Amino acid sequence: MTRYEDVREVYQNDAVYSNAGAANFQAMVGETFQMIPLAIDPPDHGKYRILLNPWFSPRAITLMEPKIRATIGELIDSFADKGECDLAYDYGRIYPVRVFMGLMGFPEEKFEDFLSWEYAILHDMGNLERMKWGISSALAYLRGYIEEVRRTPVDNLTSHIVHGTVEGRGLTEDEIIGTVFFLWVGGLDTVAATTALMFRRLALDPALQQTLRDNPDQIPEAIEEFLRMQPIVNSGRSAKHDHELAGVQIKKGEYIMCLNAAGNFDPAEFEEPRTFRLDRPSNRHFTLAGGPHRCLGSHLARRELRIALSEFLERIPPFRMKPGADRTVVPGLIAAPHLPIVWG
Ligand code: HEM
Repeated sequence: MTRYEDVREVYQNDAVYSNAGAANFQAMVGETFQMIPLAIDPPDHGKYRILLNPWFSPRAITLMEPKIRATIGELIDSFADKGECDLAYDYGRIYPVRVFMGLMGFPEEKFEDFLSWEYAILHDMGNLERMKWGISSALAYLRGYIEEVRRTPVDNLTSHIVHGTVEGRGLTEDEIIGTVFFLWVGGLDTVAATTALMFRRLALDPALQQTLRDNPDQIPEAIEEFLRMQPIVNSGRSAKHDHELAGVQIKKGEYIMCLNAAGNFDPAEFEEPRTFRLDRPSNRHFTLAGGPHRCLGSHLARRELRIALSEFLERIPPFRMKPGADRTVVPGLIAAPHLPIVWG
């Protein structure tokens, strides 16, 4: 699906489109649990969202804000005097993972391991051995951590899941690992990738950078526009029964891919779609999907991106790409692993 209206229909109409079996990475190593909540269709899907939603509400994110700001401030301190940094590697790669690890309760020393497992799963597409290694290593660690918080409950999201209830009963082993593993996959790298792409655009567009320096109150609108113009993933659904959509016959079981970038650039929905505009009256893009599976981490992601951008612009003077910088962007989950920038 490439048109805005059609993408929206597929995301929203869960009577016709199913997300069962989505992101089934774990099947590659012989596991049979489902990714929760992503691979569960309504109405069952709702009970897991009820369990998780309070941890991702705007109010919960506001309580996390001082920690997010401190994490980001510390990172900026580490390179502010140097006149340059690798924005993707030294900044974008680090702060969202620290915030996420704090939320879940994972110990800080797992940082490098987590990133290499995650990279093997999401960016080494095609290298099946590396993917399997990443998946097995992450699952082994997460199962160990789940056991730890089962014995000693603590105030973090992993413990909330392990000791939580859905419809009045505790979660099964499969439900627990399915939820913790999906959060791990979804929460670790997405903001990092978006941060790198956002700063890449700013480094290449000095006028836009200056506009945001002069108008920091417009950063929330800017974040929405960065998200619209840089969707990092696409999502698919399978048809629950034979039907027709946009003149195309679709059979039960067939797989439909929604190209988020195409929807986000559809001129029927977005005026001048290729122009970065801060004055869009409504900016309902698909970067965080839509319908029942709309990204659970959307408030957290937006808040992190806002803080990361505003603190950086406040502390670092106008920046640009370092001459000769490698600007490679990798597929899978679209990301720029390195972004060398200079200022002053
Ligand atoms: C800019 C950053 C992010 C982007 C672009 C993003 C994108 C997405 C997309 C496209 C989906 C829907 C997939 C589908 O419908 O098949 C989704 C779902 C989800 N995301 Fe995010 N995400 C981001 C950040 C996060 C963060 C930080 C977390 C958690 C800490 C998170 C957790 C989830 C969860 C749990 C779901 C499944 C929701 C459900 O099935 O009900 N995401 N995300």
